[in-house]
Amino acid sequence: MSHSLATALPSAETGPVICVVGARPNFMKMAPILRAMAAHAPPLPMLLVHTGQHYDKDMSDRLFEDLRLPRPDVNLEVGSGTHAIQTAEVMKRFEPIVEGYNPSCVVVVGDVNSTLACALVAVKKGVPVVHIEAGLRSYDRAMPEEINRILTDQISDRLYTTERTAEANLMREGIPPSRVCFAGNVMIDSVVFGRANARSAKDTLQASNMDAAVLLHPLGYGVVTLHRPSNVDHPDALRALLGVLAEVAVRLPLVFALHPRTRSNIDRFGLLDLIDPARMVLLPPQGYLEMLGLMADATLVLTDSGGLQEETTALGVPCLTLRENTERPITVEQGTNTLVGRDREAILAAVQEILAGRGKRGRLPEFWDGHAAERITADLFQWLTPRPANQAVGSV
Ligand code: UD1
Repeated sequence: MSHSLATALPSAETGPVICVVGARPNFMKMAPILRAMAAHAPPLPMLLVHTGQHYDKDMSDRLFEDLRLPRPDVNLEVGSGTHAIQTAEVMKRFEPIVEGYNPSCVVVVGDVNSTLACALVAVKKGVPVVHIEAGLRSYDRAMPEEINRILTDQISDRLYTTERTAEANLMREGIPPSRVCFAGNVMIDSVVFGRANARSAKDTLQASNMDAAVLLHPLGYGVVTLHRPSNVDHPDALRALLGVLAEVAVRLPLVFALHPRTRSNIDRFGLLDLIDPARMVLLPPQGYLEMLGLMADATLVLTDSGGLQEETTALGVPCLTLRENTERPITVEQGTNTLVGRDREAILAAVQEILAGRGKRGRLPEFWDGHAAERITADLFQWLTPRPANQAVGSV
């Protein structure tokens, strides 16, 4: 476990705000928060803890560079494991950090195992928990993230939401409205921040030593990502999806950025033959600026990621989500997202619509404006400021 105690040492009374990241989708949510905290007057003392849930250069270090995240002050280096082992290991290693720093609060983002594990440690130590991206619900408890969301929200003291439906979900679960603050989407802060420096699709392909000829197709190209256990952990499901993608690729060349679990499952299940390299380019996990560039210029995106559903809405690019449900309904109602599940007919019909120029253009949801982190930081500062015991704080 590596420590560097340089940045924000705790004072005798209240220590820093501990900000937790663990896995890839956390990094783009936390980066704008850290920037806003540093820019706040007065700056909020903070300590960045990386649990090490994601540890590869491709899954972690490159994103830190692209998002200009500071080096973590503490890396718990938990690595991979079953859900129980990973969650327990984060908890065991995070507890002494909370004891040592006496934080004013612990800020967690999103819905990965590290989010829940650190929230649980903090609440049991009597430290306030702040959850950014609270209240999203797929109502599918087979998703590990759904369990993480429900439990994290139940033990959080301050909950920042990205869309209005999230607040209604929280009310249904008995969370007092005074704890909830609709502040907008920090994910989009990162899109706004990164857009100017996004890498071109051509540079990205060439950097991976891939032939960029697919980019010359008159209809453009599609971007694919897949990593949900329900889509990639069962041979039949993965075979069926790769079969449909092969059919799509006949119409539109595809660029497929492979998550490590998807890569290893394609090999393990012997499915590489389903991929025609002339029509479907396989890439390793991409950096943030590469993904932004690939998506921004794409004709469409096919994905089961939560983050990509939001990023494509921000970029105005049609997105087909290969899931039966979404915890981000605003991307369907107002954005560019369409749920197509794993149904072959539905996927091919939706692709056809987009290629015929009838894809969703969408509009930007409320507060998806690049300033969510500033709103959160201003509110958090107020919330943390000691006040007379009889003075309650309401939502902003
Ligand atoms: C995790 C999150 C998921 C998020 C996804 C983004 C949970 C429950 N899931 O899923 O919500 O959408 O991250 O990627 O927290 N691996 C590597 N290198 C790494 C990390 C993982 O090769 O740096 C491989 C390992 O084989 C590991 C597997 O990927 O076992 C899965 O990693 P894990 O963190 O357990 O879950 P993800 O599927 O990445």
